[in-house]
Amino acid sequence: MADNILLIGFMGVGKGRTARALAEQTGRFTVDTDDLIESMTKMKIRQIFAEQGEAHFRQLEQRAADWLEHHVSGTVVSAGGGFFMVKNMQRLGKVVFLHSPLEAILAALRRQPDAEAKMKKRPLLQDLDQAERLFTERLPLYRRVADMEIAVQGRENADIAAEIAFRLRG
Ligand code: S3P
Repeated sequence: MADNILLIGFMGVGKGRTARALAEQTGRFTVDTDDLIESMTKMKIRQIFAEQGEAHFRQLEQRAADWLEHHVSGTVVSAGGGFFMVKNMQRLGKVVFLHSPLEAILAALRRQPDAEAKMKKRPLLQDLDQAERLFTERLPLYRRVADMEIAVQGRENADIAAEIAFRLRG
């Protein structure tokens, strides 16, 4: 098994920011699965969804997962919200689920200075009823695949990262 730390959870929960804080605290590098896909395809995620569809995007996530399994170790991986569905998830490393209620995620997103861009770049966050259904549907699935769950609502990224580092040591 690759010795990575994978942060999973719903869109906007703070996986990227927590991954960067965790990388800083542990001296690891961090990669983001959406960034890997964008660099591989030279397309934005929004464009992939619009032009090639979600099913194709999920295939690209699987390709990114296969690459991570064979080439990346000792790294903090910030995973897109649906990345946990790849078939080799458990072989990539320790899986940490960042959990917060959906209302808190959306409220925190809206407070950010570039809130509009952050919402717009996420195709599955355009329709809030659909996002709510997806959140409810995914919650048990995140929990099933995770080795560890962290409650992140209202917390600083550095504090969340410190808890992850502490619990992984123990
Ligand atoms: C998705 C989450 C997004 C991105 C894509 C699909 C999802 O990543 O991978 O828009 O299925 O939840 P973030 O969780 O980083 O927003």
